[in-house]
Amino acid sequence: MKPVKVGVLGLGTVGGGTVNVLKRNAAEIARRAGREIIITRASAKDLNKARICDTQGIALTTDPFDIINDPEIEIILELIGGAGQVKDMVLKAIENGKHVVTANKSLIALHGNEIFAKASEKGVIVAFEAAVAGGIPIIKAIREGLSGNQIEWLAGIINGTGNFILTEMRDKGRDFADVLAEAQALGYAEADPTFDVEGIDAGHKLTILASIAFGIPLQFDKVFTEGITQITRTDVEYAEQLGYRIKHLGIARKTAAGIELRVHPTLIPERRLIANVNGVMNAVLVKGDAVGATLYYGAGAGAEPTASSVVADVIDVVRALTSDPENRVPHLAFQADAIADIPVLSSEQFKTAYYLRLNAEDKPGVLAEVTRILAAHHISIEAISQKAPLNNETSVPIIILTQITLEQEMNAAIAEIEALATVSGKINRIRLETLG
Ligand code: NDP
Ligand code: HSE
Repeated sequence: MKPVKVGVLGLGTVGGGTVNVLKRNAAEIARRAGREIIITRASAKDLNKARICDTQGIALTTDPFDIINDPEIEIILELIGGAGQVKDMVLKAIENGKHVVTANKSLIALHGNEIFAKASEKGVIVAFEAAVAGGIPIIKAIREGLSGNQIEWLAGIINGTGNFILTEMRDKGRDFADVLAEAQALGYAEADPTFDVEGIDAGHKLTILASIAFGIPLQFDKVFTEGITQITRTDVEYAEQLGYRIKHLGIARKTAAGIELRVHPTLIPERRLIANVNGVMNAVLVKGDAVGATLYYGAGAGAEPTASSVVADVIDVVRALTSDPENRVPHLAFQADAIADIPVLSSEQFKTAYYLRLNAEDKPGVLAEVTRILAAHHISIEAISQKAPLNNETSVPIIILTQITLEQEMNAAIAEIEALATVSGKINRIRLETLG
């Protein structure tokens, strides 16, 4: 059989890694796919740039549309990134009847509904395993391996850069900016690294995970995101004294009222496996009604781990080239006409436990006032401790762990406590999940 010809758009971290893996493992890949897969064309912005891959035998261009419009190319690998011009490239590739493999989570989270509709109309596949959790085959696991389950919730460390920063800060006391610069040099970070540290990238990935877990449309605009820039060493240490780790989690949970979609720093018990996922590693916990809790772990970013997912998608596409489109695994796990409009909850409707740190005057009656306000908002206290004053201050840090409560009640309680004359400054609030 004739080899399948592939065109690669983007030869950076992921594109370079993909070229390397496809070339190095060509024989093994052909045995799996049933056909030889060769990259005949690739595009990049600057053709004189040094590359991590050998481009010998690949015709290069600066114009991705040269490749998209080449009738010889059957599969386009979109490894440029961003959701602007790249959307036109992907739609044009689909229009031209080409299958597309992408690592681009922002593209899928923001424009996936339109892209998949167009792909179905044209009978082509758009595969996106690499878009979530780098090298972990989490899309395949949820979409296929867990397809007999009702997914109840999932929670994941789904940004490698953020986890790398938190780990280096905690273990080595390193500076935030310094670790971020290293993550950029290692090729982990997004073109705009605020996407990593403000939870936007994790929000894109959570959008995708929630869609394939619950059979809902992709709706990034409904994801609540809070970044890691406000996490202090003090909170990391207090959390550890209480037996918790702070991780930046993406959480999707189906409740009777609707679906929670949230990305935020989270205290999790240190005995949980996921609490011990460090550096650029990612992990996703998925709870199905039949299987129970399952955990998926691996490198969340980087050239070859991500290429591993891209190449797996390419092999899947090649295997499916001769199948009828209606017999393929649906893009978003559920049949397109069975996608349900389940409401997504606002942050005020979230139900979770909390870690609160406040500074209060060290005198009788102050704690009683604070606990009275919490009780008035139906918030039960799990633990409370008073710490030694920091830097000769007259106020003392009070740490409170609460039981699960409605976020709306917590917002109101925090506002009232902050208004007390005996409490100074803002309350630092971090959500807490036991993930049991
Ligand atoms: P890079 O910045 O390393 O690579 C982007 C590539 O696209 C570069 O080769 C660049 O060319 C090329 N490019 C940019 N604009 C154009 C254009 N207009 N025409 C042609 N080529 C262009 O990004 P990454 O490889 O890190 O990321 C690629 C995608 O993969 C993104 O969507 C990202 O979110 C996703 N991803 C990244 C992971 C990672 O670990 N880095 C992991 C998982 C997903 P040039 O080199 O000449 O500048
Ligand atoms: N910037 C992303 C991360 C790349 O650090 O997780 C992988 O999606």
